[in-house]
Amino acid sequence: MWEVRKEKNAKVDRSEIKKMNGKLIVFEGVEGCGKTSQIQLCCEWLLRDVACNVSVTREPGGTDLGVDLRRLLLEVGKHPIADRTELLLYAADRSQHVEQELKPNLAKGTIILCDRYTDSTIAYQGYGRNLDINLINQLNAIATGGLESDLTLWLDVDVEVGLARKRGTSAITDRIEQETLAFHRRVQQGYAQLYASYPQRIVRVDASLSQEAVQKQIQAIVSDRLAKWVASTKTN
Ligand code: TMP
Repeated sequence: MWEVRKEKNAKVDRSEIKKMNGKLIVFEGVEGCGKTSQIQLCCEWLLRDVACNVSVTREPGGTDLGVDLRRLLLEVGKHPIADRTELLLYAADRSQHVEQELKPNLAKGTIILCDRYTDSTIAYQGYGRNLDINLINQLNAIATGGLESDLTLWLDVDVEVGLARKRGTSAITDRIEQETLAFHRRVQQGYAQLYASYPQRIVRVDASLSQEAVQKQIQAIVSDRLAKWVASTKTN
């Protein structure tokens, strides 16, 4: 039996997790924050120790259409892309992703681990590109049909450390990664502001630590939330 022990005697077993509605857990952060590896580790842990239905997806690129949109958005130097066009392409990717992947999987009771969601648009297009945040909020509401994450993990790492990590692991840089340091610093400010504004939904993870230490923090946070979600399922 899998156990959650945040508070003394807090215990949740697998059968109770299976009765829960699906949950959307989003991973966010600047370039090189380690989201993708941490999502894989978190998925392996959930499958092994919690034995729940898990699916891993991402934005942009979580559907077949999204794969094509991702290529258009991230390839370097093929087409110039105006800032508002970029915003609309991310929104188009999200709208398709919500309809085709997120809603059907949540309806089956799946725990979805999603690499980026609406906060990326606020951080990158809002803070990074200086587009109007109210406009982005409206567009996010249209693209998601109101579907919000149940939990967002912000993997917080220094911008320079993240960029150095990313450039150290891949020789190919994409269109957004190639932006100036000032752009990436504004994106980081965006995440800090979102974290301050939504303390219930967004939990900060210190992503400057080793991969193992970061994963431990993530497992502790997710365990705690699972226990709360199970408890609220029982009272409803
Ligand atoms: P990643 O999936 O490898 O992190 O790359 C996706 C890139 O797209 C990353 O640079 C962040 C950027 N992005 C936005 O600018 N706005 C968005 O809404 C999303 C989802 C991603």
